[in-house]
Amino acid sequence: MDQFRIEGGVPLRGEVAASGSKNSTLALMAAALLGDGAVTLSNAPHVRDLDTMLQILNGLGVRAGWESSDTLRIEGGEPTQIEAPYDLVRTMRASFMVLGPLLARCGHARVSLPGGCAIGARPVDQHLKGMAALGAKIELEAGYVEARADRLRGGRVTFDMRTVNGTQNVLMAACLADGVSEIENAACEPEVLELIEVLRAMGARIDQASSEHLIVQGVPSLAGVRHKIAGDRIEAGTLLVCGGILPGSDVKVTGIAPEHNNVVLEKLREAGLSVEVGSDWARVRRHGNFRGLRVKTAPFPGFPTDMQAQIMALLTQADGVSAISENIFENRFMHVPELVRLGADIEIEGKTAVVNGPSRLSGAPVMATDLRASASLVLAGLAASGETRVRRVYHIDRGYERIEEKLARLGGRIRREAE
Ligand code: EPZ
Repeated sequence: MDQFRIEGGVPLRGEVAASGSKNSTLALMAAALLGDGAVTLSNAPHVRDLDTMLQILNGLGVRAGWESSDTLRIEGGEPTQIEAPYDLVRTMRASFMVLGPLLARCGHARVSLPGGCAIGARPVDQHLKGMAALGAKIELEAGYVEARADRLRGGRVTFDMRTVNGTQNVLMAACLADGVSEIENAACEPEVLELIEVLRAMGARIDQASSEHLIVQGVPSLAGVRHKIAGDRIEAGTLLVCGGILPGSDVKVTGIAPEHNNVVLEKLREAGLSVEVGSDWARVRRHGNFRGLRVKTAPFPGFPTDMQAQIMALLTQADGVSAISENIFENRFMHVPELVRLGADIEIEGKTAVVNGPSRLSGAPVMATDLRASASLVLAGLAASGETRVRRVYHIDRGYERIEEKLARLGGRIRREAE
């Protein structure tokens, strides 16, 4: 296993390009199962989660792979297998998004329940509720979802809560259902909107009565498509936070849609950091001290839960008290004990972490537990004096493309080495 060795205390300065969105790419790879023609996705990031999804697709008898250094190609046509196995789904829950396309194309799917993960139980009841509303017969046996439908039919789905992958899964199924479907309380994250854009380009008929109310007119088939993946808003947010970690920091991130990070950028301004935005870039600078914040995670357009750990690392350096409430997942504070080991002053009170700043952080060996928590530890290590070793960086490799190279390009003293 690899670890990052970080020599902190050096302000990061410079410009770096974001990679394509991991979460968008995963949904679009599942959507490729719907098309009769090939789907090519350029600006796709080289992250471990995509490799897992490629294994899932190839296991379904679909030819999928890298066409060039940044472009994925998934051949069209009906899958010849209908099973997504436990040993893959358990490592990457987004694999569960092949359920809708398999049901829509093959009328049958056998997908492992993803099980929980570090940040929470993460049930899939809403996905199954949606498939049942479209006429699928759902059975659970031996840890698998066995779903069948001779032909999905249009139906109405009202989600109990905003679910990003649930919305994407049911939306994909509805595109080939017979008749009109309505999806209410739909998620409207940029990754959902990008999927809608690509499905429409494939021939789907999707109307947005509102950002949370989708109306889908099923069609007999969908074509292939060529699409360039949007910049990863969470990677961008993570890199922009580096612009505030130390006095003198100044980070510009290009290749993004800044409007995908409006709330994050607004919070950084509210804290007193300098934030500039262009058509496809954003820049964060820190001149002196900055203030603590109140942050509450919420579905888009609220503050993204995927940025909670990263803003917490930043707020350990703010003047005064910050309160960060995690309202989406029930166990997403696992970075807290590791940040405390670096010298942060953080107390957890239920769903809220209270951060007293500024703390003088000093380097120490820490352990990554999940994707965004590990990013938070890297950010804190960059702020800490002395050496920090972040172990088990395979967590971070799931969702960040060679982040150590990007941070080193910004002047960070970070290198990857075998543990
Ligand atoms: C997506 O996960 C993202 N992953 C997550 O990013 C992100 O944190 C999350 O959306 C929220 O924005 C991908 O897109 C691959 P949800 P998803 O369904 O869709 C509950 C990262 O770091 N729920 O929106 O699985 C669930 O437990 C990852 O890149 C049910 O109860 O999340 C959670 O509390 C982590 N039943 C809430 O809804 C269901 O059937 C929101 O989860 C589905 C969800």
